[in-house]
Amino acid sequence: MTTVASSVPSSVLAAAEAYAREKLRGRECGHDFFHADRVRRTALRLRDAEGGDAGIVELAALLHDVADPKLVPDVAAAQQDLKDFLRGTGISSADLLHVLSILEGMSFSKELAGIQAEKTIEFQVVQDADRLDALGAIGIARCFAYGGSRNQLLYDPAIPPRTQMDNKAYREEKSSSLNHFPEKLFLLRDRMNTATAKRWAEKRHAFLVEYRDTFLREWDGEDFEGSVIPA
Ligand code: ADP
Ligand code: NI
Repeated sequence: MTTVASSVPSSVLAAAEAYAREKLRGRECGHDFFHADRVRRTALRLRDAEGGDAGIVELAALLHDVADPKLVPDVAAAQQDLKDFLRGTGISSADLLHVLSILEGMSFSKELAGIQAEKTIEFQVVQDADRLDALGAIGIARCFAYGGSRNQLLYDPAIPPRTQMDNKAYREEKSSSLNHFPEKLFLLRDRMNTATAKRWAEKRHAFLVEYRDTFLREWDGEDFEGSVIPA
């Protein structure tokens, strides 16, 4: 894949990195700057395979959680601050609108609300990278870290995983971190936009399934020596 020259100057990327570091300081550890940085690295690797403007990808990856509605106390203020920051960088208005539409369209919660953003290739790789970071060993750590930050149970056998959810139920009803696996994390593999991310998701998805199976066996002590493991 040939590299597409980016219209985003490197000075803007440096400023966006500094801005993201500052805004994500002290964040719940599954959505901190390290998460933004992993998403940036994965998104840029996906872009190498899938194409797109690297500068737009990097900018959107760095900023994608800065104004996340579930993480900031004042969403309108955080969004305004982000827009002011982007305008102040002097990027073109086309690039500004593109980055903002990626950020607005990205989250799963927005999809539940029925909002459809135009899926440019840059949008697709950043969203795929964010979803890949919710899978695999790191995805498991993030899930329980997030649950812990909300004082959510690890697991409760009396609460079945929800199969149909609207946005309100998704955020407000009591569930458990282990239920988050079938409720959301298991769905991500088939929601990847790009062929490359679909391939990369396979191993991480399989690890989640195996982890949950093991968790449930341990819950009932079926992993102990002498236990009869159901076929
Ligand atoms: P969303 O907008 O759907 O919340 P994010 O990518 O911002 O998506 O957040 C996803 C990360 O937060 C994942 O790693 C996921 O494990 C964690 N997370 C979100 N909601 C929950 C929940 N109810 N229980 C456990 N983890 C959660
Ligand atoms: Ni994210």
